[in-house]
Amino acid sequence: MMVRREHARAVLALEQRLGESSVRTDEAALVAASRDESEADVVLPSAVVVPRTSGEIAAALKVCAEFGVAVVPRGAGTGRTGGSAVVVDSIVIDTTKLDDVKGIERQDSYAVVDPGVVTGVFHERCEGEGLFYPPDPQSSQWCTLGGNVAENAGGPRALAYGVTRDYVLGLRAVTMEGEELVVGRRTAKGVTGYDVTSLLVGSEGTLAVFTELWLRVIVAPPVVRTLLATFASVYDAGRAVEAILRAGIVPRCIELLDELCCASVRETDPASLPTNAQVVLIIEVDGDEARCDSLVERTGAVLDESQATAVLVAKHGGDRERLWAARRVLSRALRRRATHKLSEDIVVPRSKLALILDDVRAISEREGLVMPTYGHAGDGNLHVNLLWNTPDERPRVDRAIRALFEQTILHGGTLSGEHGIGVLKRDFLPLEQSPALIAAQRAIKLALDPRDLLNPHKVLPRISHRAC
Ligand code: LAC
Ligand code: ZN
Repeated sequence: MMVRREHARAVLALEQRLGESSVRTDEAALVAASRDESEADVVLPSAVVVPRTSGEIAAALKVCAEFGVAVVPRGAGTGRTGGSAVVVDSIVIDTTKLDDVKGIERQDSYAVVDPGVVTGVFHERCEGEGLFYPPDPQSSQWCTLGGNVAENAGGPRALAYGVTRDYVLGLRAVTMEGEELVVGRRTAKGVTGYDVTSLLVGSEGTLAVFTELWLRVIVAPPVVRTLLATFASVYDAGRAVEAILRAGIVPRCIELLDELCCASVRETDPASLPTNAQVVLIIEVDGDEARCDSLVERTGAVLDESQATAVLVAKHGGDRERLWAARRVLSRALRRRATHKLSEDIVVPRSKLALILDDVRAISEREGLVMPTYGHAGDGNLHVNLLWNTPDERPRVDRAIRALFEQTILHGGTLSGEHGIGVLKRDFLPLEQSPALIAAQRAIKLALDPRDLLNPHKVLPRISHRAC
């Protein structure tokens, strides 16, 4: 009751401070802002605040802090682990109306952007100037740069170019107490103080809310070539990935679609895959013409030696897009197969790719579950999907997830390559990290947010009271 009263007072104060049009309490807005693209259980927030300036973000945080109300910051809600899901009574701060590309400093190779800029829009702005911002999450047509920075998003091109963190030079952010932090640098180098920029990137909205981002941009590679190779089995494909990398070839992407993924795609959109493609690798190289020619030739030779059943090469826009078609329809195709879909995001050392693929098969057989697997194979980053229809299947899904994580850690891997920990994976953190490391992270969290009001119940595991 007390909580609700404080929320009502906070909502009133927010309406006074920001204007009624910036504070939504209608059911449709509350429902839309309560969830992301994960299977996280959610509750409705008390309100959705839609600030239009960084000052309004700071003001909204101050009001919520004054009333002791929890806040969930949010971009476009395309996350997969519940990072922006509302899991306790909260007020949502939606950052999507701050959507200006404020400037691109070509000579100094960085851009200043608002957190609500859609990633794909930024890609186009950069391309228009012959520049390149490599991070390319699959949701780039909808997701926002602020959300990408909060989750340290990746995407196919991470293989050659790295993930979002590698492109964040600095940023402005506001803490839960309304304090502005100006973090990082706009220079090519800079090591002043602790690397707070890196800490805030990937902090999943638990430490501060971003109000401006300074993103590194690079010169666009002039030529891109796309290859699609088909294989009879996922193990042949896994071994081909290992062989390409062993040969010292660094494509910008190596994407894998296993048998179940190819079959699902074929059901949804048969034209998007070559006939008879059982398992697919999509590989992309870039650079100048001569480099691309040489990389295509060397990659082709390794693929032939690795039992590829066919290799297609595309040079130009439309043809290249056609080779990506299966990857683009994949998520939709998998979603059609079952009522519930969970996309895991493990990473193993690249040399362990074939081993973990074998583990996935063993787990799916043991639990009798359909587990289509795809992802950024060149990074050892696999999206192992779990599909189910009825609640009685859930215990088997939970067992499969735990077994997958245990095998991943056994191979020297990590629980998340790009989707973050959010709420869905937080209780698995102790599988990978020591109690001392988790305690250190909790101390950092409380240093910036002493009352644990900013995106609570995310990232760090639940504190167990069993010892009490
Ligand atoms: C992808 C998302 C799920 O790679 O990360 O499709
Ligand atoms: Zn991915």
